[in-house]
Amino acid sequence: MAVFLSSYLLYAVVCLLVGAVIIKLYPSFIIYCRQWYHLRSLQFLPYHWLLGNLHVINETQETLLAILDIVVQRKLQIVSVWYGPFIATVECFRPDTIRAVLKEGKSDQLYRLLVPWLGRGLLLANGDKWFRSRRLLTPAFHFGVLKPYVQVYNECAQILIDNWTKLASSNESVEICKPVSLLTLDVVLRCAFSYESDCQDPGLNTPYVTAIYKLSRLISQRIMYLPHQSDLLFYLSPSGREFKRSLKIVHDHSEKVIRDRKTVLEEQVRKGKPIKPTSGRNYSDFLDILLTSKDENDAGLSDEQIRAEVDTFMFEGHDTTASGISWTLYCLAKHPVHQEKCREEIQLVLNGRDTFEWDDLKSLSYTTMCIKEAMRLYPPVPYYFRQLSEDTVIKEHLIPKGTIICIDTLSLHRQPDVWENPEDYDPLRFLPERCDERDSFAYMAFSAGPRNCIGQTFALNEERIVISSILNKFSLELDEDHTVEWMPLLILRAKYGIKLNLNPL
Ligand code: HEM
Repeated sequence: MAVFLSSYLLYAVVCLLVGAVIIKLYPSFIIYCRQWYHLRSLQFLPYHWLLGNLHVINETQETLLAILDIVVQRKLQIVSVWYGPFIATVECFRPDTIRAVLKEGKSDQLYRLLVPWLGRGLLLANGDKWFRSRRLLTPAFHFGVLKPYVQVYNECAQILIDNWTKLASSNESVEICKPVSLLTLDVVLRCAFSYESDCQDPGLNTPYVTAIYKLSRLISQRIMYLPHQSDLLFYLSPSGREFKRSLKIVHDHSEKVIRDRKTVLEEQVRKGKPIKPTSGRNYSDFLDILLTSKDENDAGLSDEQIRAEVDTFMFEGHDTTASGISWTLYCLAKHPVHQEKCREEIQLVLNGRDTFEWDDLKSLSYTTMCIKEAMRLYPPVPYYFRQLSEDTVIKEHLIPKGTIICIDTLSLHRQPDVWENPEDYDPLRFLPERCDERDSFAYMAFSAGPRNCIGQTFALNEERIVISSILNKFSLELDEDHTVEWMPLLILRAKYGIKLNLNPL
């Protein structure tokens, strides 16, 4: 009797488990079948039953340009790419197809790898939560708040220039990507919570700065390595353990800074004093603004939300801007005529001064066009993703609900019928009258619409001042012996770095 009962129980448990798995997987199974049926006609790359198209796409510059060539030759308007047997994406690289999908929410399937670090900050939030955060955060990027940051950009650029002046005397070319990325990290640390970290000092390694750096690297590596898509396998691996350690350092640090700052603010309120910047500087940093922002019901952000926004600011505001600056310096070194035109403009603006002021920014128009054109050829965020909330017809194809859409800026910015001679570096494309002639979804470096980059003015100001400060001190030449190749991860990186000869002026 006991044997009968226990085998009956076992049978019931197995049935329950199988039932739970079927109920859990059923929606994904339906999406999969519909994608398989509807997206087959959009396939254009060789398909493997297990790898999908992964064996063809290896994310190298050569392969991606060859694929783009096929797309252009065959005049394809929209294509599907399979990442393994189950994940299908639809790639949008035409202004009209991008316009059709941009209103959709973020794809959780892909962005989930960032959630342990960034939480549901502005970048990863959807729906009402995103709407409320966007409203609360918009004042943090108002020009009145950004204005004093010019001083921070000047200070951080000067540290880089001092370091490069020492290296330039050795007559060897200099790898620029790593130092530029430390500079942009220095800038966000100071603007986010007035943290002066000495992170640009080549001899110093602060645990917090090292941890931020590691997290960016480990996430990029994880995306590229299929087995690590599984949380179980990733967290059991050495990379996963390193990720957890770095995450703890970063979160502990953010939480402590938030706690301390809150205490100072509460003290000011308790004593009835007017709320002043608590950073010790004469301006409010990002954290001050987050702690004091309130919605129409007088409700502010919770500590957890503030931490998510600070971490998002670190992530979005650091490597992206570094990529923009590094690729612009590369383009200007490759095209000395444009470099010289920028320098003439910069020297005219500075008129003998060494540092920039807020009012100078509007006069750096040629330099700004050079930056935008560099971000056309080398968009710092090469791809971003959405997930369809309903069946959508794009270019007469039905794309099923649940499909991940990849907005492929890299390909969009190289479409020959959108950009004449797309491979040429021509900053004059960004003359205001020529921008007016173009589709507003033709240039997507900062995205467009309600979910565009909230930090774009911050980033462009930083890029303008850092690049102009460098051009004011050095003439740049390519190291012809060094291969420069792009590699699109989360951020568009240079696979072997970028080496330039820096000639002091
Ligand atoms: C050259 C530098 C930058 C580039 C190219 C860039 C590009 C982008 C792009 C393409 C998006 C849209 C992503 C998507 O839809 O998934 C985005 C969103 C965002 N960016 Fe930037 N970004 C840059 C710098 C910054 C900086 C400096 C900050 C903050 C200080 C920042 C904060 C954000 C945030 C919070 C979002 C999410 C906005 C939302 O969903 O409402 N970005 N950025």
